[in-house]
Amino acid sequence: MVLLELNDVTSGYGKMVVLEKISMYVNDGEIVSLLGPNGAGKTTLLNTIFGLADVFEGEIKFNGLSIRGKSPDKIASMGIGYSPQQQNIFPNFTVEENLMLGAYLRRDKEVRKDMEEIFEIFPEIERRRRNLAKTLSGGERQMLAVARALMLKPKLLLCDEPTAGLAPKAASALAKKIKEIRERGTTIIMVEQNAKIALNISDRTYILSGGRIIAQDFSANFLMKKDLEQLYFK
Ligand SMILES: Nc1ncnc2c1ncn2[C@@H]1O[C@H](COP(=O)(O)OP(=O)(O)OP(=O)(O)O)[C@@H](O)[C@H]1O
Ligand SMILES: [Mg+2]
Repeated sequence: MVLLELNDVTSGYGKMVVLEKISMYVNDGEIVSLLGPNGAGKTTLLNTIFGLADVFEGEIKFNGLSIRGKSPDKIASMGIGYSPQQQNIFPNFTVEENLMLGAYLRRDKEVRKDMEEIFEIFPEIERRRRNLAKTLSGGERQMLAVARALMLKPKLLLCDEPTAGLAPKAASALAKKIKEIRERGTTIIMVEQNAKIALNISDRTYILSGGRIIAQDFSANFLMKKDLEQLYFK
């Protein structure tokens, strides 16, 4: 079943067009990765899905419903979570407080219980639950950013460069968590600088360059191609 679908979407900021004629889909249960050079428009694509960019043309459907033009709060309440590339945690709040803030749209009584479940995926930050977020390591901060986005129990998680700036060990630890999140039932779109990690954990991959999708395939097929970097510029 297709969970998210973009048809010929052109979007950007104000009057500036960044993405042109983007068509893509994400099936329920998939991990889809977005790769491409700096400035390709990867973050803008996530912003476009989440209602943080201006859509000039095209249609965006989530669960069969149009989400084009809806506010980020509305889109979040429909089941999309966003762990952004920058400013993704509140440094002067504790780990627990950050997670509770992540649940800001929820009115049910399960929030605490869900936090404990999320800590099962991220025991590294559970140990630090009463510490200020600014005292966490880089890897722990990225975990907190992803954990915070999960607090709204999204059907679809948008994850922008979760392994950015991490040493190889921390990066592969985080990649494992992404897989575990999917195994627990969340569909994921992940932007990555590290093509190898992305191709290894995702089912399918779209490559963006200059605001357009220049290639798409099963990740396993991209992995068999020799020079990954060359893919970006072909
Ligand atoms: N808020 C904004 N307002 C205006 N232009 C923006 C804004 N954010 C990004 N851009 C522009 O849109 C283009 C795509 O940027 P975007 O951040 O989407 O790329 P990216 O692929 O995520 O890059 P990176 O790998 O460096 O994170 C760039 O030319 C950038 O300058
Ligand atoms: Mg980006």
